Amino acid sequence: MNHIIINKDFRNSILEFIKSKKYSQIIVLVDENTNKHCCERLAFKSFLPKHELIEIKSGEEEKNLSTCIQIWQKMTDMELDRKALLINLGGGVIGDMGGFCASTYKRGIDFIQIPTTLLSMVDASVGGKLGIDFSFDNNTFKNHIGVFRVPDAVLVSTEFLKTLPNSELRSGFAEVIKHCLIADADKWKSLVVSLQSLNVSDGTLSIGIDFEDIVSHSIQIKDKITTEDPTEKGLRKTLNFGHTLGHAVESFYLNTSEKLLHGEAIAVGIICESYLSLKRNLISEEDLKQISEYILSVYGKVIIQNHDLDAIIELTKQDKKNEYSEVQFALIGPIGTCGYGITVEEKEMKEALEYYIKTV
Ligand SMILES: NC(=O)c1ccc[n+]([C@@H]2O[C@H](COP(=O)([O-])OP(=O)(O)OC[C@H]3O[C@@H](n4cnc5c(N)ncnc54)[C@H](O)[C@@H]3O)[C@@H](O)[C@H]2O)c1
Ligand SMILES: [Zn+2]
Repeated sequence: MNHIIINKDFRNSILEFIKSKKYSQIIVLVDENTNKHCCERLAFKSFLPKHELIEIKSGEEEKNLSTCIQIWQKMTDMELDRKALLINLGGGVIGDMGGFCASTYKRGIDFIQIPTTLLSMVDASVGGKLGIDFSFDNNTFKNHIGVFRVPDAVLVSTEFLKTLPNSELRSGFAEVIKHCLIADADKWKSLVVSLQSLNVSDGTLSIGIDFEDIVSHSIQIKDKITTEDPTEKGLRKTLNFGHTLGHAVESFYLNTSEKLLHGEAIAVGIICESYLSLKRNLISEEDLKQISEYILSVYGKVIIQNHDLDAIIELTKQDKKNEYSEVQFALIGPIGTCGYGITVEEKEMKEALEYYIKTV
Protein backbone atom coordinates (compact mmCIF):
# COMPACT_ATOMS: atom_id res chain seq x y z
CA MET A 1 0.00 0.00 0.00
CA ASN A 2 1.33 3.38 -0.99
CA HIS A 3 1.34 6.26 1.47
CA ILE A 4 -1.01 8.48 -0.56
CA ILE A 5 -2.60 11.71 0.63
CA ILE A 6 -5.03 13.67 -1.53
CA ASN A 7 -5.73 17.37 -1.00
CA LYS A 8 -6.12 17.16 2.78
CA ASP A 9 -4.19 20.00 4.29
CA PHE A 10 -1.60 19.57 1.61
CA ARG A 11 1.26 21.69 2.92
CA ASN A 12 0.98 20.30 6.43
CA SER A 13 1.06 16.77 5.02
CA ILE A 14 4.40 17.56 3.40
CA LEU A 15 5.78 19.09 6.57
CA GLU A 16 4.54 16.24 8.73
CA PHE A 17 6.08 13.70 6.41
CA ILE A 18 9.43 15.51 6.49
CA LYS A 19 9.32 15.91 10.27
CA SER A 20 8.60 12.21 10.75
CA LYS A 21 12.04 11.39 9.32
CA LYS A 22 15.39 12.98 10.03
CA TYR A 23 16.57 14.02 6.59
CA SER A 24 20.09 15.34 6.17
CA GLN A 25 19.13 17.40 3.08
CA ILE A 26 16.08 18.05 0.93
CA ILE A 27 16.22 18.44 -2.83
CA VAL A 28 13.29 19.39 -5.05
CA LEU A 29 13.38 18.26 -8.69
CA VAL A 30 11.39 20.45 -11.11
CA ASP A 31 11.26 21.35 -14.79
CA GLU A 32 10.94 24.98 -15.94
CA ASN A 33 7.13 24.78 -16.00
CA THR A 34 6.66 23.23 -12.59
CA ASN A 35 9.27 25.58 -11.18
CA LYS A 36 7.28 28.52 -12.50
CA HIS A 37 3.73 27.34 -11.80
CA CYS A 38 3.90 24.81 -9.01
CA CYS A 39 6.70 26.03 -6.72
CA GLU A 40 4.97 29.38 -6.68
CA ARG A 41 1.51 27.94 -6.07
CA LEU A 42 2.85 25.97 -3.14
CA ALA A 43 4.95 28.90 -1.95
CA PHE A 44 7.59 26.22 -1.57
CA LYS A 45 10.36 28.69 -0.87
CA SER A 46 8.73 30.07 2.23
CA PHE A 47 7.21 27.04 3.90
CA LEU A 48 9.51 24.14 3.09
CA PRO A 49 12.54 23.69 5.40
CA LYS A 50 15.93 24.51 3.86
CA HIS A 51 16.17 22.85 0.47
CA GLU A 52 17.87 23.06 -2.92
CA LEU A 53 16.26 22.98 -6.36
CA ILE A 54 17.40 20.96 -9.34
CA GLU A 55 15.76 22.20 -12.52
CA ILE A 56 15.81 20.20 -15.75
CA LYS A 57 14.27 20.92 -19.15
CA SER A 58 10.67 19.77 -19.60
CA GLY A 59 9.55 17.13 -22.09
CA GLU A 60 9.65 13.41 -22.82
CA GLU A 61 12.81 13.91 -24.95
CA GLU A 62 14.63 14.81 -21.72
CA LYS A 63 13.70 11.54 -19.99
CA ASN A 64 17.01 9.90 -20.77
CA LEU A 65 20.38 8.89 -19.44
CA SER A 66 22.08 12.25 -20.06
CA THR A 67 19.52 14.07 -17.91
CA CYS A 68 19.99 11.40 -15.20
CA ILE A 69 23.72 12.09 -15.34
CA GLN A 70 23.03 15.81 -14.79
CA ILE A 71 20.82 14.97 -11.80
CA TRP A 72 23.31 12.52 -10.27
CA GLN A 73 26.10 15.05 -10.80
CA LYS A 74 24.15 17.76 -8.99
CA MET A 75 23.35 15.34 -6.16
CA THR A 76 27.04 14.52 -5.91
CA ASP A 77 28.05 18.23 -6.01
CA MET A 78 25.58 18.88 -3.20
CA GLU A 79 27.23 16.05 -1.26
CA LEU A 80 23.95 14.26 -0.66
CA ASP A 81 24.25 11.28 1.66
CA ARG A 82 21.88 8.34 1.99
CA LYS A 83 19.71 10.22 4.49
CA ALA A 84 18.70 12.83 1.90
CA LEU A 85 15.18 13.24 0.48
CA LEU A 86 14.28 13.95 -3.15
CA ILE A 87 10.90 15.59 -3.80
CA ASN A 88 9.73 15.12 -7.41
CA LEU A 89 7.47 18.07 -8.21
CA GLY A 90 6.13 17.61 -11.72
CA GLY A 91 4.44 15.38 -14.24
CA GLY A 92 5.24 11.79 -15.13
CA VAL A 93 8.61 12.69 -16.65
CA ILE A 94 9.87 14.25 -13.40
CA GLY A 95 8.31 11.47 -11.31
CA ASP A 96 9.65 8.55 -13.39
CA MET A 97 13.13 9.98 -13.87
CA GLY A 98 13.49 11.56 -10.41
CA GLY A 99 12.31 8.34 -8.78
CA PHE A 100 14.80 6.36 -10.88
CA CYS A 101 17.68 8.70 -9.96
CA ALA A 102 16.75 8.56 -6.26
CA SER A 103 16.44 4.77 -6.30
CA THR A 104 19.88 4.30 -7.79
CA TYR A 105 21.87 7.14 -6.16
CA LYS A 106 24.09 5.50 -3.53
CA ARG A 107 21.82 2.43 -3.88
CA GLY A 108 18.73 4.41 -2.98
CA ILE A 109 17.59 7.48 -1.06
CA ASP A 110 14.01 8.34 -0.02
CA PHE A 111 11.80 10.15 -2.53
CA ILE A 112 8.27 11.48 -2.61
CA GLN A 113 6.09 12.18 -5.61
CA ILE A 114 4.12 15.41 -5.84
CA PRO A 115 2.38 14.94 -9.20
CA THR A 116 1.31 18.11 -11.00
CA THR A 117 -0.42 16.76 -14.14
CA LEU A 118 -3.66 14.79 -14.21
CA LEU A 119 -1.82 11.86 -15.81
CA SER A 120 0.82 11.74 -13.13
CA MET A 121 -1.80 12.05 -10.36
CA VAL A 122 -3.99 9.19 -11.53
CA ASP A 123 -1.35 6.99 -13.12
CA ALA A 124 2.42 7.63 -13.10
CA SER A 125 2.91 8.49 -9.42
CA VAL A 126 1.17 5.34 -8.17
CA GLY A 127 2.46 1.79 -8.51
CA GLY A 128 6.24 2.13 -8.29
CA LYS A 129 7.30 1.94 -11.94
CA LEU A 130 10.28 4.25 -12.45
CA GLY A 131 12.59 4.73 -15.37
CA ILE A 132 13.79 6.44 -18.50
CA ASP A 133 13.70 6.04 -22.27
CA PHE A 134 16.71 4.54 -24.04
CA SER A 135 17.98 5.49 -27.48
CA PHE A 136 20.50 3.93 -29.76
CA ASP A 137 20.87 3.38 -33.52
CA ASN A 138 18.15 6.00 -34.14
CA ASN A 139 15.62 3.98 -32.14
CA THR A 140 14.04 5.12 -28.90
CA PHE A 141 12.70 2.49 -26.53
CA LYS A 142 10.22 3.98 -24.07
CA ASN A 143 10.69 3.22 -20.38
CA HIS A 144 13.32 0.68 -21.38
CA ILE A 145 15.61 1.15 -18.38
CA GLY A 146 14.09 1.27 -14.94
CA VAL A 147 13.17 -0.29 -11.63
CA PHE A 148 10.15 -1.00 -9.47
CA ARG A 149 10.21 0.99 -6.25
CA VAL A 150 7.28 2.43 -4.36
CA PRO A 151 7.80 6.09 -3.37
CA ASP A 152 7.98 6.91 0.33
CA ALA A 153 4.88 9.06 -0.12
CA VAL A 154 2.61 10.40 -2.86
CA LEU A 155 1.08 13.77 -2.01
CA VAL A 156 -1.60 15.00 -4.37
CA SER A 157 -3.11 18.45 -4.71
CA THR A 158 -5.59 19.01 -7.53
CA GLU A 159 -4.82 22.76 -7.18
CA PHE A 160 -1.93 22.21 -9.60
CA LEU A 161 -4.36 21.35 -12.39
CA LYS A 162 -5.35 25.03 -12.58
CA THR A 163 -2.24 25.91 -14.60
CA LEU A 164 -2.10 22.72 -16.64
CA PRO A 165 -2.77 23.25 -20.37
CA ASN A 166 -6.16 21.85 -21.38
CA SER A 167 -4.67 19.42 -23.88
CA GLU A 168 -2.63 17.85 -21.05
CA LEU A 169 -5.73 17.67 -18.86
CA ARG A 170 -7.65 15.86 -21.59
CA SER A 171 -4.73 13.51 -22.17
CA GLY A 172 -4.65 12.46 -18.51
CA PHE A 173 -8.41 12.02 -18.53
CA ALA A 174 -8.05 8.98 -20.82
CA GLU A 175 -6.54 7.05 -17.89
CA VAL A 176 -9.52 8.06 -15.74
CA ILE A 177 -11.89 6.65 -18.38
CA LYS A 178 -9.77 3.48 -18.55
CA HIS A 179 -9.88 2.98 -14.77
CA CYS A 180 -13.68 3.24 -14.77
CA LEU A 181 -14.07 0.82 -17.68
CA ILE A 182 -11.79 -1.85 -16.18
CA ALA A 183 -12.83 -1.60 -12.56
CA ASP A 184 -15.98 0.41 -11.79
CA ALA A 185 -19.10 0.16 -13.96
CA ASP A 186 -21.09 2.58 -11.77
CA LYS A 187 -18.44 5.27 -12.05
CA TRP A 188 -18.41 4.75 -15.82
CA LYS A 189 -22.18 5.31 -15.86
CA SER A 190 -21.77 8.52 -13.89
CA LEU A 191 -19.12 9.75 -16.33
CA VAL A 192 -21.52 9.13 -19.22
CA VAL A 193 -24.35 10.92 -17.42
CA SER A 194 -22.15 13.94 -16.65
CA LEU A 195 -20.99 14.22 -20.25
CA GLN A 196 -23.80 16.69 -20.98
CA SER A 197 -22.34 19.12 -18.48
CA LEU A 198 -18.85 18.94 -19.97
CA ASN A 199 -17.98 21.75 -22.26
CA VAL A 200 -15.92 19.81 -24.75
CA SER A 201 -16.94 21.58 -27.92
CA ASP A 202 -13.94 23.91 -27.92
CA GLY A 203 -11.54 21.30 -26.61
CA THR A 204 -11.87 22.33 -22.96
CA LEU A 205 -12.66 19.73 -20.39
CA SER A 206 -12.63 21.33 -17.01
CA ILE A 207 -16.23 22.51 -16.70
CA GLY A 208 -18.44 20.13 -14.76
CA ILE A 209 -15.69 17.87 -13.47
CA ASP A 210 -15.07 17.39 -9.78
CA PHE A 211 -11.34 16.71 -10.04
CA GLU A 212 -10.89 15.85 -6.38
CA ASP A 213 -13.50 13.14 -6.77
CA ILE A 214 -12.21 11.62 -10.02
CA VAL A 215 -8.56 11.82 -9.00
CA SER A 216 -9.08 10.06 -5.68
CA HIS A 217 -11.31 7.45 -7.34
CA SER A 218 -8.74 6.72 -10.02
CA ILE A 219 -5.85 6.58 -7.55
CA GLN A 220 -7.76 4.08 -5.40
CA ILE A 221 -8.22 1.79 -8.39
CA LYS A 222 -4.61 2.02 -9.54
CA ASP A 223 -3.31 1.60 -5.98
CA LYS A 224 -5.50 -1.46 -5.33
CA ILE A 225 -4.43 -3.19 -8.53
CA THR A 226 -0.72 -2.41 -8.19
CA THR A 227 -0.63 -3.32 -4.50
CA GLU A 228 -2.13 -6.71 -5.33
CA ASP A 229 0.27 -7.28 -8.24
CA PRO A 230 3.23 -4.92 -7.92
CA THR A 231 5.45 -6.50 -10.59
CA GLU A 232 2.82 -7.15 -13.28
CA LYS A 233 2.59 -10.92 -13.06
CA GLY A 234 -1.16 -10.87 -13.70
CA LEU A 235 -3.85 -8.43 -12.54
CA ARG A 236 -1.71 -5.33 -13.21
CA LYS A 237 -1.86 -6.20 -16.91
CA THR A 238 -5.49 -5.02 -16.89
CA LEU A 239 -4.12 -1.46 -16.71
CA ASN A 240 -2.92 -1.99 -20.28
CA PHE A 241 -6.48 -1.88 -21.60
CA GLY A 242 -6.51 0.54 -24.55
CA HIS A 243 -2.72 0.60 -24.58
CA THR A 244 -1.73 -2.14 -27.06
CA LEU A 245 -3.26 -0.51 -30.13
CA GLY A 246 -3.09 2.86 -28.37
CA HIS A 247 0.71 2.69 -28.04
CA ALA A 248 1.02 1.55 -31.65
CA VAL A 249 -1.04 4.55 -32.82
CA GLU A 250 1.03 6.85 -30.54
CA SER A 251 4.32 5.49 -31.95
CA PHE A 252 3.07 5.69 -35.53
CA TYR A 253 2.18 9.38 -35.24
CA LEU A 254 5.37 10.20 -33.31
CA ASN A 255 7.29 10.52 -36.54
CA THR A 256 4.66 12.61 -38.33
CA SER A 257 3.47 16.20 -38.11
CA GLU A 258 0.30 14.99 -36.34
CA LYS A 259 2.00 14.01 -33.09
CA LEU A 260 -0.57 12.81 -30.54
CA LEU A 261 -0.45 13.21 -26.78
CA HIS A 262 -0.41 9.87 -24.95
CA GLY A 263 -4.03 10.08 -23.81
CA GLU A 264 -5.26 11.06 -27.27
CA ALA A 265 -3.74 7.86 -28.65
CA ILE A 266 -5.06 5.79 -25.74
CA ALA A 267 -8.55 7.15 -26.47
CA VAL A 268 -8.26 5.60 -29.96
CA GLY A 269 -6.94 2.41 -28.35
CA ILE A 270 -9.88 2.23 -25.95
CA ILE A 271 -12.39 2.36 -28.81
CA CYS A 272 -10.50 -0.25 -30.87
CA GLU A 273 -9.99 -2.60 -27.95
CA SER A 274 -13.62 -2.24 -26.85
CA TYR A 275 -14.48 -3.39 -30.37
CA LEU A 276 -12.32 -6.49 -29.73
CA SER A 277 -14.24 -7.03 -26.47
CA LEU A 278 -17.48 -6.97 -28.46
CA LYS A 279 -16.08 -9.49 -30.94
CA ARG A 280 -15.30 -11.83 -28.02
CA ASN A 281 -18.85 -11.38 -26.68
CA LEU A 282 -17.55 -9.63 -23.58
CA ILE A 283 -19.57 -6.43 -23.97
CA SER A 284 -22.75 -5.55 -25.89
CA GLU A 285 -23.24 -3.47 -29.06
CA GLU A 286 -24.89 -0.86 -26.84
CA ASP A 287 -21.80 -0.72 -24.55
CA LEU A 288 -19.48 -0.26 -27.54
CA LYS A 289 -21.66 2.48 -28.96
CA GLN A 290 -21.69 4.31 -25.63
CA ILE A 291 -17.90 4.07 -25.21
CA SER A 292 -17.25 5.22 -28.79
CA GLU A 293 -19.67 8.16 -28.54
CA TYR A 294 -18.28 9.28 -25.21
CA ILE A 295 -14.67 9.16 -26.35
CA LEU A 296 -15.31 10.80 -29.70
CA SER A 297 -17.16 13.66 -28.03
CA VAL A 298 -14.27 14.31 -25.63
CA TYR A 299 -11.36 13.69 -28.01
CA GLY A 300 -12.74 14.13 -31.51
CA LYS A 301 -11.58 11.87 -34.29
CA VAL A 302 -7.99 11.06 -35.22
CA ILE A 303 -7.76 10.69 -38.98
CA ILE A 304 -6.20 7.29 -39.63
CA GLN A 305 -5.64 6.25 -43.25
CA ASN A 306 -6.48 2.71 -44.34
CA HIS A 307 -3.09 2.38 -45.99
CA ASP A 308 -1.35 2.99 -42.63
CA LEU A 309 -3.06 0.14 -40.79
CA ASP A 310 -0.43 -2.51 -41.54
CA ALA A 311 2.33 -0.23 -40.27
CA ILE A 312 0.37 0.47 -37.09
CA ILE A 313 -0.29 -3.24 -36.51
CA GLU A 314 3.39 -3.99 -37.07
CA LEU A 315 4.18 -1.66 -34.16
CA THR A 316 2.10 -3.78 -31.73
CA LYS A 317 4.83 -6.44 -32.06
CA GLN A 318 7.16 -4.19 -30.07
CA ASP A 319 4.81 -4.09 -27.10
CA LYS A 320 6.68 -4.94 -23.89
CA LYS A 321 3.76 -7.05 -22.72
CA ASN A 322 3.93 -9.61 -25.54
CA GLU A 323 4.83 -13.17 -24.72
CA TYR A 324 6.17 -15.93 -26.99
CA SER A 325 5.88 -13.44 -29.90
CA GLU A 326 2.10 -13.28 -29.51
CA VAL A 327 0.47 -9.87 -29.15
CA GLN A 328 -1.42 -9.93 -25.86
CA PHE A 329 -4.34 -7.69 -24.98
CA ALA A 330 -6.27 -6.74 -21.87
CA LEU A 331 -9.96 -6.64 -22.79
CA ILE A 332 -12.88 -5.33 -20.77
CA GLY A 333 -16.05 -7.27 -20.26
CA PRO A 334 -18.48 -6.93 -18.69
CA ILE A 335 -17.80 -3.23 -18.15
CA GLY A 336 -16.12 -2.72 -14.78
CA THR A 337 -14.07 -5.90 -15.19
CA CYS A 338 -11.11 -6.75 -17.37
CA GLY A 339 -9.28 -9.87 -18.51
CA TYR A 340 -5.68 -10.05 -19.67
CA GLY A 341 -3.24 -12.21 -21.62
CA ILE A 342 -5.72 -12.45 -24.51
CA THR A 343 -4.06 -13.22 -27.82
CA VAL A 344 -5.42 -11.26 -30.78
CA GLU A 345 -4.66 -11.98 -34.42
CA GLU A 346 -3.52 -9.28 -36.85
CA LYS A 347 -6.69 -9.58 -38.89
CA GLU A 348 -8.81 -8.81 -35.79
CA MET A 349 -6.64 -5.78 -35.00
CA LYS A 350 -7.18 -4.53 -38.52
CA GLU A 351 -10.94 -4.95 -38.15
CA ALA A 352 -10.82 -3.00 -34.89
CA LEU A 353 -8.92 -0.11 -36.49
CA GLU A 354 -11.32 -0.17 -39.45
CA TYR A 355 -14.21 0.07 -36.99
CA TYR A 356 -12.56 3.20 -35.53
CA ILE A 357 -12.09 4.72 -38.99
CA LYS A 358 -15.77 4.13 -39.85
CA THR A 359 -17.22 5.35 -36.56
CA VAL A 360 -18.67 8.84 -36.60
N1 LIG B 1 5.41 5.19 -13.94
C1 LIG B 1 4.25 4.89 -14.46
O1 LIG B 1 3.55 3.98 -14.02
C2 LIG B 1 3.75 5.74 -15.59
C3 LIG B 1 2.41 5.65 -15.99
C4 LIG B 1 1.98 6.49 -17.01
C5 LIG B 1 2.86 7.37 -17.62
N2 LIG B 1 4.15 7.42 -17.20
C6 LIG B 1 5.11 8.36 -17.81
O2 LIG B 1 4.67 9.68 -17.55
C7 LIG B 1 5.17 10.55 -18.55
C8 LIG B 1 4.08 11.49 -19.02
O3 LIG B 1 3.67 12.24 -17.92
P1 LIG B 1 2.94 13.65 -18.08
O4 LIG B 1 1.83 13.51 -19.04
O5 LIG B 1 2.68 14.16 -16.72
O6 LIG B 1 4.05 14.52 -18.86
P2 LIG B 1 5.10 15.64 -18.43
O7 LIG B 1 5.77 15.33 -17.17
O8 LIG B 1 5.97 15.82 -19.62
O9 LIG B 1 4.18 16.94 -18.24
C9 LIG B 1 3.50 17.48 -19.33
C10 LIG B 1 3.82 18.98 -19.49
O10 LIG B 1 3.12 19.72 -18.51
C11 LIG B 1 4.02 20.58 -17.80
N3 LIG B 1 3.45 20.73 -16.47
C12 LIG B 1 3.45 19.81 -15.49
N4 LIG B 1 2.68 20.21 -14.47
C13 LIG B 1 2.20 21.43 -14.79
C14 LIG B 1 1.33 22.35 -14.15
N5 LIG B 1 0.74 22.06 -12.99
N6 LIG B 1 1.05 23.51 -14.79
C15 LIG B 1 1.58 23.79 -16.02
N7 LIG B 1 2.39 22.95 -16.68
C16 LIG B 1 2.69 21.77 -16.07
C17 LIG B 1 5.35 19.90 -17.90
O11 LIG B 1 6.41 20.80 -17.71
C18 LIG B 1 5.29 19.34 -19.32
O12 LIG B 1 5.62 20.34 -20.23
C19 LIG B 1 5.69 9.66 -19.69
O13 LIG B 1 7.10 9.68 -19.65
C20 LIG B 1 5.18 8.27 -19.32
O14 LIG B 1 6.05 7.25 -19.72
C21 LIG B 1 4.60 6.63 -16.20
ZN1 LIG C 1 -1.31 5.32 -20.32
